[in-house]
Amino acid sequence: MRTLRDIDQLRSTLRDYRQRGQRIALVPTMGNLHAGHLALVACARQHADIVVASLFVNPMQFGPGEDLDGYPRTFDADQAQLIEAGCNVLFAPAVSSLYPNGLDAQTRVHVPVVGEGLCGGSRPGHFDGVSTVVSMLFNLVQPDVACFGEKDYQQLAVIRKLVCDLHMPIEIIGVPIVRAEDGLALSSRNGYLSSEERAIAPALYRTLCTLRDALERGEPIEKVLHQGNTALYDAGFTLDYLELRDVTLGPINLATRHAVLLAAAKLGPARLIDNLTVQLP
Ligand code: PAJ
Repeated sequence: MRTLRDIDQLRSTLRDYRQRGQRIALVPTMGNLHAGHLALVACARQHADIVVASLFVNPMQFGPGEDLDGYPRTFDADQAQLIEAGCNVLFAPAVSSLYPNGLDAQTRVHVPVVGEGLCGGSRPGHFDGVSTVVSMLFNLVQPDVACFGEKDYQQLAVIRKLVCDLHMPIEIIGVPIVRAEDGLALSSRNGYLSSEERAIAPALYRTLCTLRDALERGEPIEKVLHQGNTALYDAGFTLDYLELRDVTLGPINLATRHAVLLAAAKLGPARLIDNLTVQLP
C-alpha cells in the first residue's frame, strides 16, 4: 500500500492506474478504523481494481464545542489495518493541503432538503462540511465507485443527491451497518463511553428493534415513537431525535411501505446514531 500525503503525488499515482484501464474505488474515512470501515474496504475491493482509502479528520464538519480536538487519531494502527484489508492507496492529507486558505475562505457545497433535519438539524453546517470535503475527495481521486456506510444514513442520502445534482460519474454504494455482538453499531465515538455507558449503549439498537417490530405489526406510529422516547430516556439516553421517514428521508404518508427509523442520542460524552429499515403494513 502506498501512503500519500501530497495532492500532486496522489494525482500522478492515480493517473498511472487509470491509464492502465484500472477501476478505482474510494473509501472516505476520518480514521480510528474498525470493522465497519473495513467492510467498506472489502466492498470497494469487490467493485474495483484499485482501492483508495482517505483518512482526514475534516475540521469543516465539526461544529463549535464538538469533538474535533478529542477525535481519536490512531494513524499507525489505521495504516496497518488498511494494508491487512488489501487497500492499495492511503491518502492522508494535512488540513493545510485541503484547505490552504483556511475554512472561512473555502467554497462550500450545500445539499438542500435531504441534509436538513435529523443530524442536519442538531448539527448545523455539518453536512455542508461533509459535502464539501467529499466533493473535494471525488475531484482529487475521480473514483469510478465510492463506498459509504448505512450507519450514517442521512450522510449517504446527502452524497447520493450531491453526485446526482452535480452530474458526477461516480457509483455510490451503501454498505450495511456493522455491529458489535450486542447490537451496538460500531463507531469511533464508542471509545468515549465508560464501561457503564458501554453496557447501556446497546439499548439504542434493542429499542429500535422493538419499535420496528411494533410498526411492522401495524401499531400507530405516534404511539410507537412515544414509547421509544420513553424507553430511551429510561435507559439513560438524552434523545436528539427519533423519527420515522421514508427511505429517501422524505416524510411518510399513508402510501409509504418502505420506511426507516432513525435515532440520535447522547450517552455521557458520546453522541450515538443508529437506524433500521421498516416495512410498514
Ligand atoms: P467516518 O465516521 O470515519 O466513517 C467513514 C465511513 O465508514 C462512513 O461511510 C461511515 O458511514 C462508515 N461507517 C462507520 N461506522 C460504520 C459501521 N458500523 N458500519 C458500516 N459503516 C460504517 O463518515 C465519515 O467518517 C465522514 O463524514 C466522511 C464521509 C469521511 C467525510 O469526512
